[in-house]
Amino acid sequence: MSSQRTSWALSADVKALRIGFIGAGRLGQALAWSLDQAGLKVVAVSSTLEAHTRALADPIEACVCMSTQAVADACDLVFVTTPDSVIGPTCESLKWRAGQAVVHCSGVTEVRELAHAFEQGASIGGFHPMQTFGDPHAAVQSLPGCTITVEAEEPELMQSLLSLVEHLRCVPNRLPAGMRGRYHAAAGYTSQFINALFYQAVRLWQTWGATEEEALRALLPLAQGTLSSIQTAGVARGMPGPVSRGDLYSIDKHLTAIAPMGPEMLGFYRTLCMTTVNLAQQAGGIDEAKAQQFATLLNAQGH
Ligand SMILES: NC(=O)c1ccc[n+]([C@@H]2O[C@H](COP(=O)([O-])OP(=O)(O)OC[C@H]3O[C@@H](n4cnc5c(N)ncnc54)[C@H](OP(=O)(O)O)[C@@H]3O)[C@@H](O)[C@H]2O)c1
Repeated sequence: MSSQRTSWALSADVKALRIGFIGAGRLGQALAWSLDQAGLKVVAVSSTLEAHTRALADPIEACVCMSTQAVADACDLVFVTTPDSVIGPTCESLKWRAGQAVVHCSGVTEVRELAHAFEQGASIGGFHPMQTFGDPHAAVQSLPGCTITVEAEEPELMQSLLSLVEHLRCVPNRLPAGMRGRYHAAAGYTSQFINALFYQAVRLWQTWGATEEEALRALLPLAQGTLSSIQTAGVARGMPGPVSRGDLYSIDKHLTAIAPMGPEMLGFYRTLCMTTVNLAQQAGGIDEAKAQQFATLLNAQGH
């Protein structure tokens, strides 16, 4: 898609923009209310169920419920906050025009899903808050301080999106086009994959009869300590544990203890442990020879 167009001519003052929402779900409600509270003009909303449309509109004085096409017609900036699977079809079902911008809030869907609007002259972009929107009221409280990832080929729209981020008291992050699959997967490592790691640890505790609650009471402070250490020293140098100290003896004991839990659990442990060997080497905690000894131990079939 060309980046030469400057059809987005309203960037100077985002407070003058008429902003609309298509999709009044968890994120749509929280973002619309947050923008309203920040002094921006949220004027129109459309959604599938009237109750949800009203739920978004009612707390905002100037916001009117209307048809989806009417939102597109009435607004300078339209957020498509439907589920990801219908962002493209929703965009394609509508008529857009030059001088307006259409933006989605997905982390994983590429901005080119909005190509239909671009072809009709509109500017298109992405505006992804890195936050979980369960209860929209709670999300309004937790949004300030979060990172919002913005994407737009047109510099004028990028400026407007950055200005919105500032009004929301959030931290901007720019993402180039085509990177959303990796970007979203990366977020998964530091959110739901933490649950997967805790699951493994809790399973081990349960083998001697401890409850999940007892395990978490002991393990959560450990995890919090590691997070602080990463914050202070970075991913490699902030890594604790036996591999960082070159302690082969402990890893050998771990492998022996985990082996009876089955090949899946042992295989997962080996993969994670090998990653920590690479990190320990990066941090200068172990040399090449020690890393090789770890690799040999982890690849041995004896466990
Ligand atoms: N929830 C999160 O934690 C989170 C975080 C970051 C980004 N996001 C992104 O935000 C977007 C919205 O997610 P969400 O969690 O807010 O989803 P959601 O709670 O399911 O809300 C989606 C809304 O879109 C409406 N909708 C569905 N099809 C529509 C259509 N064809 N036209 C108009 N409205 C339609 C639904 O309408 P009705 O309710 O009226 O049926 C629903 O209110 C997604 O792109 C998601 O990836 C979500």
